[in-house]
Amino acid sequence: MLGLGNTVHGFSVGLSAAGGIPGQSPKAIFEQVFWVFMAIGTLVGIVVIVYAFYNAVKYRDEDGADPYRDSSKVVRPTAGELPGSSGGGRKLFLSFGISAIIVLSLIVWTYGLLVDYETAPSEIDEDLTVDVYGQRFSWKFQYPNGENVTNELRVPRGKMIQLEVTSTDVFHNFGIPKLGVKSDAIPGQVTNAWFAGNETGTYAAHCYELCGAGHATMDAEVIVMEPDAYREWYDNTSAAGGAQTVSD
Ligand code: CUA
Repeated sequence: MLGLGNTVHGFSVGLSAAGGIPGQSPKAIFEQVFWVFMAIGTLVGIVVIVYAFYNAVKYRDEDGADPYRDSSKVVRPTAGELPGSSGGGRKLFLSFGISAIIVLSLIVWTYGLLVDYETAPSEIDEDLTVDVYGQRFSWKFQYPNGENVTNELRVPRGKMIQLEVTSTDVFHNFGIPKLGVKSDAIPGQVTNAWFAGNETGTYAAHCYELCGAGHATMDAEVIVMEPDAYREWYDNTSAAGGAQTVSD
């Protein structure tokens, strides 16, 4: 399991260097689940509808020739009776068998991905673990070097970022919709979340737990920067003893 995880992560590093999706990013996992279910659902839907129409046409009533109109000729199945030797049993077996295979495969595959999702990436840079404090009505981000920023989270592009989310007062919930992050912020408890931004830009973060009169304005900006620009900013934060402290 660990070996597999490492392989996946190694693969993801190559991908993210090319601007792709890093492995284990929650957003990538859920997008994968969504599209696989969408594709299989669409395929099964098409097969069922086409087969239903095929049978409707094949067994349509032509000029009153339908034998079922004459009730004396109708042979009705009895309760519990399986289709006879005309191949119906094979059809029944096939349809149940195929459905079972599809459903079981989806269950196993999805749970496998959820295990990935629940497992924190093992190779997160110490510098990229940020403490997130919810407080009525703002977000405080604290970096490993002690730097504090309110309502603005800066992160480097293409790197897995770990968030340790908590609250200093009531229940909040920290979410960055476009980056697939959503995490409880509960006093006295730390909730881990992780994500990677693959494109530079500014993303909106909101509070998703009704926490008081200012809940609707409890927003923050998440700025995904080029790694070099991020490094320069981080090294110059006042808490790092950078330029800002020197000039003070
Ligand atoms: Cu904090 Cu709503």
